[in-house]
Amino acid sequence: MYELDICSLDLSKSKADILLIPVFKGEEEKLLSVKKISKSFLKEIYDKLVNSNNHSDYNNLRIIDSPDLSIKKIALLLLPTAKNVTPFELKENFGGAVKQLYSVGLSEIGILHSKSLKSVGILENALEGIGLAAYRFEKYKTQKYKYKFKIFIFLEDSKSFLSANKILKRVKTYLETLYSVRDNVNEPSNILNPPEFKKRCLKLAKHKNIKVRAFNSKQIKHMGMNAIYDVGKGSKNGSILLVIEYLPRGYSKKIALVGKGVTFDTGGYNLKPAKAMIGMKGDMFGAAVVLAVIECAAKLKAKIGMIGIMPVVENTVNESSFKPEDVIKTLSGKTVEVENTDAEGRLLLADSLTYVQKYKPDEIIDMATLAGSCMIALGDFIAPYMTNSDKISKRFERASIESGEVFIRVPKMNEYLRFLKSSLADIKNASFGAGGGILTASMFLSEFVGNNPWMHIDFAGNDYHRNDSSSIYPKGSSGFGIKTILKYLELI
Ligand code: BES
Ligand code: ZN
Ligand code: ZN
Repeated sequence: MYELDICSLDLSKSKADILLIPVFKGEEEKLLSVKKISKSFLKEIYDKLVNSNNHSDYNNLRIIDSPDLSIKKIALLLLPTAKNVTPFELKENFGGAVKQLYSVGLSEIGILHSKSLKSVGILENALEGIGLAAYRFEKYKTQKYKYKFKIFIFLEDSKSFLSANKILKRVKTYLETLYSVRDNVNEPSNILNPPEFKKRCLKLAKHKNIKVRAFNSKQIKHMGMNAIYDVGKGSKNGSILLVIEYLPRGYSKKIALVGKGVTFDTGGYNLKPAKAMIGMKGDMFGAAVVLAVIECAAKLKAKIGMIGIMPVVENTVNESSFKPEDVIKTLSGKTVEVENTDAEGRLLLADSLTYVQKYKPDEIIDMATLAGSCMIALGDFIAPYMTNSDKISKRFERASIESGEVFIRVPKMNEYLRFLKSSLADIKNASFGAGGGILTASMFLSEFVGNNPWMHIDFAGNDYHRNDSSSIYPKGSSGFGIKTILKYLELI
């Protein structure tokens, strides 16, 4: 993570190369009334930054040489109008600005946190945006290009030191969680295979109140989880079911978090075409989120109980692989016909959703990269979710608004089950020719949750970006949704 310091606004003592002044469009004049900076200085930079064209422009950044020698440069960051700005835009603007400054050799950046901005509450989004933008996965580069930022937050109002510090801590915890997910998702599948994922998971046991259990293929079969067993048959690594229990003393609610953990999805015998296989090392995003979120809860000593369930396999091909038209008896007792071996995630989740019910959780939340059609229907920045509980939906919507990550609820519509009718078994896992891939995938899962309050979130279109799609989402894992999940759990 980048280095971060909060200090009082005193340019003469500042160690920053540049003072970055964020202002909302239409509110540029507020710059003239910043306390702790002399009026004549403010007037001079205002004239240069706002009233003249004598500045270097980079998108919404305007840079000038500073008239005060204690700091080299001054930059104005023009944000959208305060009334309409979204958390996403704030993150993107700050992330982009800091990257831009870095590219012109300015790495020690002071950000003015003025009173006028405090009322809009932008600090958290600004710091998150910078953290999201500053991430790089460079483990396998011999030559590292590490962003070495130092960010100083200059408080105009020293009284806000405590609240700013609190925000800083929160952002730090969030970024740690996010970086852990991104690191695991970006890790190639020849390194992060099921046994390696298990290893990383077992490390959590060092935390207080955490128990980790790992079941191997033989045990999984013995326990009746044939769906998890069958999907892993095509790899010598087999299937692993990881269970993390975080049950602190006197916990309030018990939340089950289920995450799809396919360390690589070739599609199986229904092999994916070459292009569609790019990004499939990230098919364990759901499991990576479960792992990171429970670790975060343990570090913060959260008072909420959590059960993490992660079925981990690689969906590959050998002579033992499961095949189209196989019939699998799931843990629930329901039989499933395999229409498509590439619809493997829902098979893993079917047994996991049944298994977790033995813990009698208050809610079950599953996270997976399940339906490729998410990308077509909603693109990079919106993820769908399905739930059988309006209470969950309300809370999740609130969390989503606060985080700035956008989700859309899809209806739980029994009509879509007709596409999954099988002539051979109770249900089939996919349907050639049926539209609404998000709906059929979600409805399939709903058949395995009984009457439990449940939510399924599909990140297939959002996590793995094949190109840099925003200043805050570099190529590879975006970590989209983690912030909302953390907020959601906080709201319980
Ligand atoms: N892992 C994929 C879904 C996916 C696609 C995730 C693109 C991320 C990016 C999943 O296992 C899958 O292959 N789904 C199929 C299901 C179909 C065969 C019914 C899909 O959506 O194409
Ligand atoms: Zn698949
Ligand atoms: Zn998959």
